[in-house]
Amino acid sequence: MPINWYPGHMYKATKEMARLVNDIDVLLEVLDARMPAASCNPKVHELRADKPCLHILNKADLADPQRTHDWLNWFNSRPGSRAIAADHRHNPSKTDIIRECEKLLVRQSDDGQIPARKRQIMIVGIPNVGKSTLMNRILGRKVAKTGNEPAVTKGQQRIRLSDNWYLYDTPGILWPKLEDQQAAYRLAVAGAIRNTAVDAEDVAFFAAELLAREFPETLLQRYQVQCETTDAETVLTNIAQRRGCLRKSGQVDWHKVSTLLLNDYRSGQLGRLTLERPPEAESGQVPISATLAQGSPPTNANEE
Ligand code: G4P
Repeated sequence: MPINWYPGHMYKATKEMARLVNDIDVLLEVLDARMPAASCNPKVHELRADKPCLHILNKADLADPQRTHDWLNWFNSRPGSRAIAADHRHNPSKTDIIRECEKLLVRQSDDGQIPARKRQIMIVGIPNVGKSTLMNRILGRKVAKTGNEPAVTKGQQRIRLSDNWYLYDTPGILWPKLEDQQAAYRLAVAGAIRNTAVDAEDVAFFAAELLAREFPETLLQRYQVQCETTDAETVLTNIAQRRGCLRKSGQVDWHKVSTLLLNDYRSGQLGRLTLERPPEAESGQVPISATLAQGSPPTNANEE
């Protein structure tokens, strides 16, 4: 079943961002370290044009450290782009963010100098990527969520980081546009797409096949399931039998086993599994977002 959602909501956020982007010096994009390509919002990159971008690979505690390292190298090797990893324990400070942004501006300047003036960063991220948590950690205090909440005024979205640097929270919620269905399913596996928009069993079938293909040893370790096939139904049936996800009749309880598998992935119980590789390292087994693979500013967004 294809994953779709609310294209009507995208328009307002895109328009608002297009209005603000001219005043921004650096874009700060929060990505999910387990799937930096799928969690990237291509519309943001279309709008930012040649503005530099600092990528935060968040939830690094749930991601494979080697692949995070590969992704950081990949982002850092791209023009106008830098990246740092973050999680609950390793969080960039305000000073780290400013330093990285200054590096980006210096790189862009002709003479290696950046004139002292007020600078603005805009923070963006698709829902559930951990943007609010990250902001709270950077600022050391709780910041109100922005978006469609009526109580959140535009004035509250601008946060002072230092004498010269200000952080804008994104107006509206930027959804990924789900043209790449494989990427959409990876987001759903991570829980970035609300359960009301997708069918958990559908997502679990996708996850079972992907895990059996890419991480069979994980399934063996966690469920004692030997993956002689990547057939999702067989894999889930084996897990269900091992874990007692069966109905009284002995048939598989698909909802129960689906929830079990997805919760185990999302909570890190399956280990630190990154579902995407950067383009250079890609073996062809795990597809990445076509837009990132092409290395060009991608296109799309949604908003609620
Ligand atoms: P958003 O603003 O981008 O929508 O995301 P938000 O900060 O609300 O975070 C979404 C979920 O991701 C939260 O979990 C949050 O705790 C979790 N999260 C954020 N950063 C990290 C991280 O670095 N590592 C891990 N493992 N999780 C992270 P939740 O279960 O939805 O909420 P809660 O029960 O933690 O409040």
